[in-house]
Amino acid sequence: MTIALVPTMGALHEGHLDLVRRAQELADDVVVSIFVNPTQFGANEDFDKYPRTLEADRAMLEPFGATVFAPSVDEVYPEGFDLFASIRSWASTQPTTTFEGATRPEHFEGVLTVVCRLFEMVQPDVVVFGQKDAQQVFLIGKLIEQAFPQIRLEVVPTNREPDGLARSSRNRYLSAEERTHALVLSRALINMSLRLMSATSTGEAIAEARASVEAEPEVRLDYLDIVDPHDFTPVNEQFRGPATAVVAAWVGSTRLIDTINLVIN
Ligand code: PAF
Repeated sequence: MTIALVPTMGALHEGHLDLVRRAQELADDVVVSIFVNPTQFGANEDFDKYPRTLEADRAMLEPFGATVFAPSVDEVYPEGFDLFASIRSWASTQPTTTFEGATRPEHFEGVLTVVCRLFEMVQPDVVVFGQKDAQQVFLIGKLIEQAFPQIRLEVVPTNREPDGLARSSRNRYLSAEERTHALVLSRALINMSLRLMSATSTGEAIAEARASVEAEPEVRLDYLDIVDPHDFTPVNEQFRGPATAVVAAWVGSTRLIDTINLVIN
């Protein structure tokens, strides 16, 4: 029997269900973990208000026959737990302090630690993650390569609302008006990728995309850039080939991220 693990923090939406569908194609059994991981939230972040909807999540998963694994904090982090130190030293060799890591210090140490624990507890053959968290997926890919080579990593494209907004558990924090403003993020990325198909310089295309986000009321840009998918560092003007565009911004008080894959010609 093979096991596919879909790690989540619950508050499930159609994007998570895409991960479950893909997991079903890849293994005999699917385990969906639901755990709001305290170690990946900073002191001023939304850990307390993060939506916890376990019963609704179970109901959404029931038609899939997936096993729900919803461990307690003590199970994930038992007394004497000491994985943090080794993860921290490994993380310091990886791009964990740029982009998401610059605004959310220690975030990736927390993500990588919980992911290691979930891998240890569930012993999956395959793990399925969403592309939207591009830096997270990049780092987990490196972790798997180096520490869990027996696990296959499967990355599923971002599920979007019909108007382009990337699905996220945090979208439920948005008011109707904020939701409209939030559309600037996916539009900026898509327009930038179209511009780069012609002869536009990369720097100009990025500057235009940033300006379009900054022009939107109620939206405060954190970062918007294009990175080399091999090392998650910003591309330079000479770069050609497949790349990853990333954006993060606050819409009102909600922090959203988005990503798309593009090609620089
Ligand atoms: O992407 C998420 O939901 C979380 O970061 C993860 C991977 C489940 C770890 O808590």
